[in-house]
Amino acid sequence: MKVAVFNGSPRKGGNTEILLGEAVKPIESAGHEVARFNLNEMHIRPCQDCGGCEGTGECVQKDDMAMIRDAIRQSERFILASPIFFFGLSAQTKAMIDRCQAFWCEKYLLKRPIPGGANGRKGLLLLVGGMKKEIGVECGEATAKAFFRTISVQEHETVAFLGIDEKGAIRRHETAFDDARAAAQRLIVPGGGA
Ligand SMILES: Cc1cc2nc3c(=O)[nH]c(=O)nc-3n(C[C@H](O)[C@H](O)[C@H](O)COP(=O)(O)O)c2cc1C
Repeated sequence: MKVAVFNGSPRKGGNTEILLGEAVKPIESAGHEVARFNLNEMHIRPCQDCGGCEGTGECVQKDDMAMIRDAIRQSERFILASPIFFFGLSAQTKAMIDRCQAFWCEKYLLKRPIPGGANGRKGLLLLVGGMKKEIGVECGEATAKAFFRTISVQEHETVAFLGIDEKGAIRRHETAFDDARAAAQRLIVPGGGA
């Protein structure tokens, strides 16, 4: 299966990146094809709400979002990983999601949702927050759910870690790596809603 993986953290070697690295291990070991996108290093302009995608389902902006759009169409499994910033997803993550408005138009206006594929489409949301406040997870989860459903991922699991602030602190969490790897293993089980 093709697996698209999005890292929404700007911090190199940070908690999200470390956690994502662990999650990807069982997926690659099982022989699946992983496409990683470090959103902070890509050129993804925010959605301009220009309406350019409404009649076509294609965004009129030409930037790195084109390769993400291709990966979203071609992949059957998705990992969206983000730090919690101001009780929500990072700006890098949110900019990518907003640009998926073109998929929203394709699905809801043009009635052409992305097809399910042989193995179904499933997602995993990984969140890391420095505070111990659940609201960041709730807000991030709500946005991620809207994203996943828009790209025909009807089923997703959320794995979140709070109270992880300092760079690398996730390494000291007793279960985080096991939790991330176990969730990734569940992700690659065939089947799942389209
Ligand atoms: C701009 C900014 C906003 C933040 N807002 C929150 C927040 O609302 N809730 C929270 O739990 N942590 C917040 N944090 C802390 C980060 O979530 C935390 O440091 C996390 O471990 C960063 O992950 P990373 O190392 O992958 O970048 C914020 C950090 C930054 C830089």
